[in-house]
Amino acid sequence: MKAIVVSDTKGLESLQLTDFPLPDVRPRGVIVEIRIAALNFPDVLQPSGLYQDQPELPFVLGLEFSGIVREAGEECRLLKTGDRVVGMGQGALGQFSSAREQMCFKLPDCMPHDLGAAIPLAGGTAMYGLKYCGQLVAGETLVVLGAAGGTGNYAVQIGKALGARVVAVCSSPEKMRSAMAAGADVVINYRVEDLKERLRELTDDKGVDVVYDPVGGDLFDICARRMAIGGRILIVGFASGRIPDLGVNMPLIKSYAVLGVNWSLTAWHRPEISSRVMADLFDLCERGLVRPVIDKVYPLEEAKAALARLENQQAIGKTLIQVG
Ligand SMILES: NC(=O)c1ccc[n+]([C@@H]2O[C@H](COP(=O)([O-])OP(=O)(O)OC[C@H]3O[C@@H](n4cnc5c(N)ncnc54)[C@H](OP(=O)(O)O)[C@@H]3O)[C@@H](O)[C@H]2O)c1
Repeated sequence: MKAIVVSDTKGLESLQLTDFPLPDVRPRGVIVEIRIAALNFPDVLQPSGLYQDQPELPFVLGLEFSGIVREAGEECRLLKTGDRVVGMGQGALGQFSSAREQMCFKLPDCMPHDLGAAIPLAGGTAMYGLKYCGQLVAGETLVVLGAAGGTGNYAVQIGKALGARVVAVCSSPEKMRSAMAAGADVVINYRVEDLKERLRELTDDKGVDVVYDPVGGDLFDICARRMAIGGRILIVGFASGRIPDLGVNMPLIKSYAVLGVNWSLTAWHRPEISSRVMADLFDLCERGLVRPVIDKVYPLEEAKAALARLENQQAIGKTLIQVG
């Protein structure tokens, strides 16, 4: 099969579109014929060996997809050949991928493959993070960092759907427009505004209830000093490239919580939670309260250029790759 293959850790430049052996079906797994893959920031990190989960070389890039089940392992109980699914698992940028059954979810009939592909990883993280980890409730103030990025854009929409006042933080006027269109109540461009001061004003000095943070670095440092009593900081990722340090006296002094949000680990080990998260998310999509925002759709041959947009902080929403 044709696939985007990582065969060393020299970065995006050495990625190749080449032939790769077809995957084998596992007893609790399915073989999915991939229609559309959606990119995520880890796809930029893995080719340089910088992500926390690095498969053995050589491997097929891509973590999020939509497609059709072509074979189901003997211990599968939920999926069968012919099912339309979206899912998470290494190898989305290949024509066929082997995925664990519980990491795949039936795609609602009303949803096309392209919108569906953009949902399970990025959207699932935001839903799991905000509702299940952060216990966000109506009326609370939610700050979303990286608010025009893949998972951040969902956090804005889901935060609004859950009734929060959403403050979106991003780096350019174009991204501000996207965050506003996603429903943010307030948008802050941290490159031209003083984020710390703006958060103080916006919360009347009381601090922020929930922070959704896929960025880390300096923005985390600022938010960690602007938390409300009983607040929650959701640690989602470090797209800035810096994993921040936090003295544990800070959560103590302000009485707030710092929570790690690892959605794929949870989906792998706790399917009873992930099936509820995805049902909640599809429900919001079907009611028109959440809609995937698609940056661009590229053919498989142009996957490198698509990944470069993420690496260069240019993508708004989700970048898709037409695989099949
Ligand atoms: N925990 C989980 O389960 C989970 C799931 C999905 C993703 N993640 C993590 O979440 C993070 C974001 O993923 P994503 O797929 O949403 O990425 P993305 O679409 O590329 O968005 C990342 C955002 O981070 C901001 N950013 C700040 N500094 C950056 C830099 N130096 N380079 C690139 N972006 C920078 C950008 O927004 P501004 O330009 O507006 O600052 C960008 O929109 C990644 O670290 C990823 O590993 C975690």
